[in-house]
Amino acid sequence: MSQANKALFIIFGGTGDLAKRKLYPSIYRLYKKGYIEENFAVIGTARREWSDEHYQEVVQDSIKGIAESEEHAEQFSRHFHYQSHNVKDTEHYDTLKNLADSLDDQFDIGGNRIFYLSMSPTFFGTITKHLRSQKLVTDSGFNRVIIEKPFGTDYESSKALNDEILEAFESDQLYRIDHYLGKEMVQNILTFRFANPMIESIWNNQFISNIQITLSEELGVEERAEYYDKSGALRDMIQNHVMQIVSLLTMDAPASLNTDEVRKQKMKVMSALKVLSPEEAEQSFVRGQYTRSADGKVAGYREEEKVADDSKTETYVAGKLDIENDRWSGVPVYVRTGKKLTKKEAQINIVFKKPDNPLYQAENTAANVVTMYLGPREGITLELNEKKIGPGMNIEKMQLDHLRTEGTIQESPEAYEKLILDCLSGDRTHFAHWEEVAASWKYVDAIRTAWNQSSSEPAFYPAGTIGPKEADELLNKDGNEWIWNPDK
Ligand code: BG6
Repeated sequence: MSQANKALFIIFGGTGDLAKRKLYPSIYRLYKKGYIEENFAVIGTARREWSDEHYQEVVQDSIKGIAESEEHAEQFSRHFHYQSHNVKDTEHYDTLKNLADSLDDQFDIGGNRIFYLSMSPTFFGTITKHLRSQKLVTDSGFNRVIIEKPFGTDYESSKALNDEILEAFESDQLYRIDHYLGKEMVQNILTFRFANPMIESIWNNQFISNIQITLSEELGVEERAEYYDKSGALRDMIQNHVMQIVSLLTMDAPASLNTDEVRKQKMKVMSALKVLSPEEAEQSFVRGQYTRSADGKVAGYREEEKVADDSKTETYVAGKLDIENDRWSGVPVYVRTGKKLTKKEAQINIVFKKPDNPLYQAENTAANVVTMYLGPREGITLELNEKKIGPGMNIEKMQLDHLRTEGTIQESPEAYEKLILDCLSGDRTHFAHWEEVAASWKYVDAIRTAWNQSSSEPAFYPAGTIGPKEADELLNKDGNEWIWNPDK
């Protein structure tokens, strides 16, 4: 008998950009690889009136370039059905239930359902409540809810949202997506640390000077200005992706790799994060906003459509986090992220302390640095010192590179593909737990409060650069500097 997964996906936000760019291609890849075979169906819902035919064309279009053949794409798209849906209208859920039940029969799915919430979080509670009351939740199979970000806009709203969803579903049915947790290299953090005793034994404040995390983007806000202007980089990137990376980099070894053990350790380190007072937040965090590029070709943030002329929304954040525990006290974790920067790059630099011995003076040696490239480049490099060829005992820096080739990167599964497969298999390890979400909201809320109280403007930086100079000063005042600087 086939081991392939059976499921009916009901996607709220089925006409959206995420569905087209990520979800349909990911489901297709799972289909192509045999993780799902013919026992699956997808119902896309949204306000718009679309026919099944049109929806299937959209799906086929979204997998152009990765489809085995036109016939295969067509065969795949026949599993897709569309229902125009008003999330507040109870009757619409009854129609949805009928369609779901009939597709379940048609494709012999056995009652397994994945409800994918990819729309404004203000509707999440209404949707989950109706799914339960109108009996879209089955008795025969599994019922899981994937929740897209943003999960609230601050701690209070995310708590209210969580409580509302928990009225209809159990916590172990919830899969809060943070797509960074599906990235190969983010998942590699734990392996690199804990499968290598050589690395793990020096992963602490005795050897490490500071940690740097950069999530730099070349693109701007594109079509999402309306959402982004209310959100800003702190909520859009720091609260979720950056905080998740910080916890994976700094947690203690879990007793096993199972979901609960990993979460327990992540939570432990997150609760050791020092929540900042408004004064400390002003000192330790910089918010920036891009202006028109130096050559005048790229518009500034305030010139974007749907952005107010005097918007103070940050398109860039840099900050310093302190972890108050034995392993990390005294090791600043510098983070930065921004839009319209020089280059797309996500990387982590672990900067080690310089040698403290009479043989080699610190000033003549370079700090050892482990760099993890999270994307689009993927891999790990290590910077060490070696003897310079020739007379004397001079030192120079050398680099050991392990960067994955284009081909290998393309073959590795996409983050969404991995996470959807995890959800199909009931594995919640690479999803955010409520307690982690709550802790990171509390952390960023303190910074947001400080900024809301302040009348100062964001630090401006021209589009196409690495960000405002204030972000450099943040490190310079500690005697450090950013390791990655594509502008140099
Ligand atoms: C999303 C943010 O969560 O992550 C976007 O909402 C951002 O603003 C994106 O562009 C970055 O993801 P990636 O995988 O392209 O680095």
